[in-house]
Amino acid sequence: MKFSIITFGCQMNVADSNWLCLALRKRGYEFTSNPDEADFVLFNTCSVRQKPEQKVYSEVGRLRSIWRKNANFFVGIGGCVAQQVGMGFFERFPYVRLVFGTDGIYMVPDVIGQLIVYPQKKISLISFEEFYPEREKVFPEKAPASVFINIMQGCDNFCAYCIVPFTRGRQKSRTKDAVLSECIEFVERGAKEIVLLGQNVNSYGQDKFGDGTSFVELLKDVAKIKGLKRLRFTTSHPKDLSKELIYLFGELDVLCPHLHLPLQVGSNKILKKMGRKYTREKYLSLVEQLRKIRPDMAFSTDLIVGFPGETRDDFEQTLDMLRLIEFENAYSFKYSDRPGTRAEKMANKVPEPEKQERLVELQELQEKITQKKYMARVGEKEEILLENVKFDSKLENRTFRGRDLWNRVVNVQIDEQTLACELVHVKIVEAKKHSLLGKVLNIL
Ligand code: SAH
Ligand code: SF4
Ligand code: F3S
Repeated sequence: MKFSIITFGCQMNVADSNWLCLALRKRGYEFTSNPDEADFVLFNTCSVRQKPEQKVYSEVGRLRSIWRKNANFFVGIGGCVAQQVGMGFFERFPYVRLVFGTDGIYMVPDVIGQLIVYPQKKISLISFEEFYPEREKVFPEKAPASVFINIMQGCDNFCAYCIVPFTRGRQKSRTKDAVLSECIEFVERGAKEIVLLGQNVNSYGQDKFGDGTSFVELLKDVAKIKGLKRLRFTTSHPKDLSKELIYLFGELDVLCPHLHLPLQVGSNKILKKMGRKYTREKYLSLVEQLRKIRPDMAFSTDLIVGFPGETRDDFEQTLDMLRLIEFENAYSFKYSDRPGTRAEKMANKVPEPEKQERLVELQELQEKITQKKYMARVGEKEEILLENVKFDSKLENRTFRGRDLWNRVVNVQIDEQTLACELVHVKIVEAKKHSLLGKVLNIL
């Protein structure tokens, strides 16, 4: 039996899909990247904006032709859209026979067997659990250079625009032991970098599910793992970024000097309406403190344009923050109404053409800033961690994607000798629009 997995959305979905893939392979199912040759296909979906949600419907619809040729073919839908739509998928697509949310995913590898044995059966796993459902421990023989490790699930913040607290439930931290043992296992299998994941990692441990360990304590322990070269985490909420965490950037050698810190907007009036619980002044002060501790600190962010009630003046304050902070990168989105959120019911919605205009303007400004920052890297010598290096000597295109310490993408051309190596020392030779180009100096 062959299966395929199609993933949308955030890193947490990517991490969930990686686990699912390993657990299914352990049970003897064979992975294929081509859904057309699969006996079943699993989707991991995202509903943070309307567009990715519609994409799920069209992608699932596209698979109807496989089912017409193979009556036993079936689809399972997981993630945030599944959590919302639930069994509605069964009515819409006869070949969808499984829906699962993030709390139900741990049962998926086992129920697949039932779906195969009983072709009439449909299974729904979308209820929230009153505990963090630990998953079966499965590890690849050789770990990738960089791995995502989930430290928590859900979110309690209910930012006015956001659907995540509804689709992923209340915040539930994993215990320190569960996180640590998983990290150690991956590093022993060759992982060089760990990225700790959660919707709001800064509040790790501050819920009734954790074991009392704070995020700072967790980071200190993970940083001690022998053989670990780089440690990152995402996503941070500015309201919970503590002094202790800021100091860690000056204390832990393996902690990379990069922080993804979603700003959303630069206007205090809109931040308040969003329920973000910080001001632009507070955000600027966090950036300043971090840069004092690590002068080379790089920042990336998420931005929303056209939140209900956002005036031209509010928007200009976001542009102003971009100029003041100079993010390396910004992920920017047009505000999108999500069902059940507070913002959906707010008055003074910004018309679509205006949102589009603001998005373009913001992206143009950010591109200039990114370009300036990237150009300044040319000539620098630095360490790059290569991702997905394939040990295939027949590879024609030997350019691999890697990342520098500051999380910038650096593409590197590798020869036969360096092919087996994941950490390389390179000289930056060119700045492209969204990445840098590096030339190998030596292997590390
Ligand atoms: N804490 C989460 C947030 C997930 S959503 C994290 O891991 O980053 C990621 C980003 O999508 C948010 O930071 C926000 O900028 C954007 N977003 C969320 N809801 C949105 C909406 N309704 N419309 C537009 N963008 C949205
Ligand atoms: Fe999408 Fe948010 Fe769900 Fe991640 S948590 S899949 S970004 S809706
Ligand atoms: Fe969403 Fe805000 Fe939580 S953006 S994920 S409600 S921190």
